[in-house]
Amino acid sequence: MCGIIGYVGKKCNLKELLIKNLKALEYRGYDSSGIAIYDDNIKVIKSQGKIEELEKKLKTIDIKNSSLGIAHTRWATHGIANDINSHPHRVGGVTLVHNGIIENYIKLKNDLIDKGYNFLSDTDSEVISALLDYIKKEEKDNIKAINKLAKQLEGSYALEIIFDGDYDNLYAIRKDSPLVIGICNGFNLIASDITAIMDYTKKYILIDDYEIVKLSKDKVEIYNNDLKIIHKDIQEISWNIGEAKKNGFSHFMLKEINDEPNVLKATINEYIKDINTLIEKMPDFSKYNMIHIVACGSAMHAGLVGKYIIEQYAMVPIVVELASEYRYKNNFYDDKTLVIFISQSGETADTIAALRNVKKDNIDTLAIVNVVGSTLAREADQVLYIRAGVEIAVATTKAYLLQIAMLILIGLNMAYVKGNLSADELNKVLKEFQIIPTKIQKIIDKKEECLKLAKNIYKMEHAFFVGRGIDYALSMEGSLKLKEISYIHSEAYPAGELKHGTISLIEEGTNVIGIMSSSDLSNKTLSNIKEALARGANITLIVTEETDKHFDFPCQKIVIDKVNNVLQPLLIVIPLQLIAFEVARLKGCDIDQPRNLAKSVTVE
Ligand code: AGP
Ligand code: GLU
Repeated sequence: MCGIIGYVGKKCNLKELLIKNLKALEYRGYDSSGIAIYDDNIKVIKSQGKIEELEKKLKTIDIKNSSLGIAHTRWATHGIANDINSHPHRVGGVTLVHNGIIENYIKLKNDLIDKGYNFLSDTDSEVISALLDYIKKEEKDNIKAINKLAKQLEGSYALEIIFDGDYDNLYAIRKDSPLVIGICNGFNLIASDITAIMDYTKKYILIDDYEIVKLSKDKVEIYNNDLKIIHKDIQEISWNIGEAKKNGFSHFMLKEINDEPNVLKATINEYIKDINTLIEKMPDFSKYNMIHIVACGSAMHAGLVGKYIIEQYAMVPIVVELASEYRYKNNFYDDKTLVIFISQSGETADTIAALRNVKKDNIDTLAIVNVVGSTLAREADQVLYIRAGVEIAVATTKAYLLQIAMLILIGLNMAYVKGNLSADELNKVLKEFQIIPTKIQKIIDKKEECLKLAKNIYKMEHAFFVGRGIDYALSMEGSLKLKEISYIHSEAYPAGELKHGTISLIEEGTNVIGIMSSSDLSNKTLSNIKEALARGANITLIVTEETDKHFDFPCQKIVIDKVNNVLQPLLIVIPLQLIAFEVARLKGCDIDQPRNLAKSVTVE
């Protein structure tokens, strides 16, 4: 997790530049931060807490304009978030920042203690600095030393390294954690992701595992594992800078919810001009008779929505699994199976590991990803980009919506190519798809209603989201959204399952949020909601024009437009996101950067 950024080039106010760039990466981790700047010697300044704490500290420290520096914003894995454990870590003549986890650090640390090293922090990262310092005692060539270091490290890492005495160059290497070089004029940058470089340049180079980078003011050298210089393509950033700003909204999450109509429109324009476009723009699904969907968190929840849709319309069985489980178990597939990996970031460690396992078995893979050029996108056999633009808030909103949209399109495509949906029926759905962005906007405009519902929810300590069928899949996300940003304990249940045990938790005032999008199942869900009501639950309902009734019991509700069943989830998710947002706002939570979380989960 964590964000790292390095600068080498013409002298500038590097303190300011690194802080600015770190802030762009803060969503990746935010429990502590630090910088190392060359100013006659290497100065390391670190602070617990958000980057503004580091900023305050830096104001009291005099640092001249500088030409070389590295910075880190941390999501602690080894050792609590305090000043000492923060990065950079400096041992002997080596100063570095690290993103990742070193799995064999205890053995390495003990060996280094035997060799006379002392450690100040509890981190695995300080061990890397010490080991590299030790290697440097014999190996004077920095590239060779980094190569020797990599041979001893197990786990994941993106490292940016400054060697004492070599102040014109910045070094880096990665394994299973992302790194991107930003090619600028008179200086160069290297960072965890594009958001930290896009204010300075559109030109970037993606680094692959075990490649070693030597970066100077006007030169980029990249070495492969055999220490040969390699040529890598320079790519162009297609996002615009405005996407990574709040643009007048109080929070990134709110801005990103408001982006939803437009980003969905872009997907519609790309994929569903007509049936031919839908078929041509997507892989050929006709040969598959089984699909596995593998992902984490909200991306897995999108997969669950996809399961209900694809099974119903294309009549193909779908297995949905958490990547952290899938990667370590026996999975049953053959050459008629497609394994779909879903990830906003494309850098989630568990999802990448699961993909690599499946590829070893020569099974077809498809990635549904937002970040262009991310590891998952590059390693899967085929990729469908959702093009949600930059998503900064830790709680995903627009990317989740577009993941569902993509799965709906896959379901429709498969249903059509397998002969389960006629051209007329498909045309009808595609036509209705065009008006979904306007319908989403209509719900966003009803934010006062969501605020009213939130006021009914935010004082209680527990919440249960219930629904049947696809509404259960949507409940999973509604529940995660609420708990991750408002810290209200929340669970999602298939409505019919509550009575098999969990109903014992319902007491006077417990929140039960019922989703009833489908007329087929809404009466069944309603009976289960009444069972909870009879035990004192505080009921909130999300219904459509079709499932709305004059409910004969006290409840709060939001009524949304009824659209074709296959498209209905795209509307249901909006109030779920807005309610979670408003609850968190009423509770005064740090919505964009909830405690203990980070946007991109690049560790196991
Ligand atoms: C979403 O709100 C979460 N914070 C989280 O569950 C996320 O969806 C998950 O970590 C997967 O991330 P990815 O889509 O980047 O793979
Ligand atoms: N494992 C390192 C630590 O705990 C790096 C964590 C990160 O990637 O932020 O300091």
